[in-house]
Amino acid sequence: MQILEKHKILEKNATLLLILSFLVVTIGGLVQITPLFYLENTIEKVEGVRPYTPLELTGRDVYVREGCYVCHSQMIRPMRDEVERYGHYSLAAESMYDHPFQWGSKRTGPDLARVGGRYSDEWHLDHLRDPQSVVPESIMPQYGHLMNRIIGPDYVQDRVETDALVGVPYSEDMILAAAEDFRAQANPNADAEGLQERYPGAQQRNFDRQPQLTEMDALIAYLQVLGTMVDFSTFEPDASR
Ligand code: HEC
Repeated sequence: MQILEKHKILEKNATLLLILSFLVVTIGGLVQITPLFYLENTIEKVEGVRPYTPLELTGRDVYVREGCYVCHSQMIRPMRDEVERYGHYSLAAESMYDHPFQWGSKRTGPDLARVGGRYSDEWHLDHLRDPQSVVPESIMPQYGHLMNRIIGPDYVQDRVETDALVGVPYSEDMILAAAEDFRAQANPNADAEGLQERYPGAQQRNFDRQPQLTEMDALIAYLQVLGTMVDFSTFEPDASR
């Protein structure tokens, strides 16, 4: 009761209440905002994480446009059930080149942070065209129309340059070769040397099995790279942080 009596003093004195409320809000604000100034050192650099190739980046744009994030998250939390189902928990570095990140907060479908390499391109093709054909109980919508949407590299250089502007480390060389790399990745007969040099480990093939380069190629290229950049058989967290 005594504490309530003391609080009465505050409640009866508007000026005092105002000053103390301001103080409390300021402390709360500082606690939340100060760490943001040190964001640079909270993201540990991890070997293998590279910027997306122009084709993957285009696929990522399709993913965002189609609202896949409404049903799918891309962040594996460090809890046992998640790690056993999806694999190693997500590292901050794995989405450091995502603008905007696709962590998501809704899982109508499974998490996709490590879906890369889990299925074949054919499986993705069947699944995206008609999810019920491979998962009969699925409620995922059909995306077969992406196979008819032919894409070219007209704007891809600008697209890469825009990400460079917000801090993704695309080099001058990567920007200039964007259109070439865009085409080369979906063409198994193209010379892959430049692509591999600029984006080590980039997967190069005809992702949707059609001669034309379509949004489906780009989307599958993106899905197949998700979670595959870091080699977790050799990864060790930096304990000094
Ligand atoms: C209405 C919600 C919804 C939307 C929108 C949606 N999905 Fe799904 N997705 C699901 C559900 C539910 C499943 C689980 C059943 C299945 O595999 O079809 C799933 C499964 C998947 C899987 C298989 C994951 C795994 O590990 O088995 C992939 C890949 C996938 N979705 C990709 C996409 C992409 C790409 C898009 C956008 C083009 C998308 N989804 C949009 C609901 C959705």
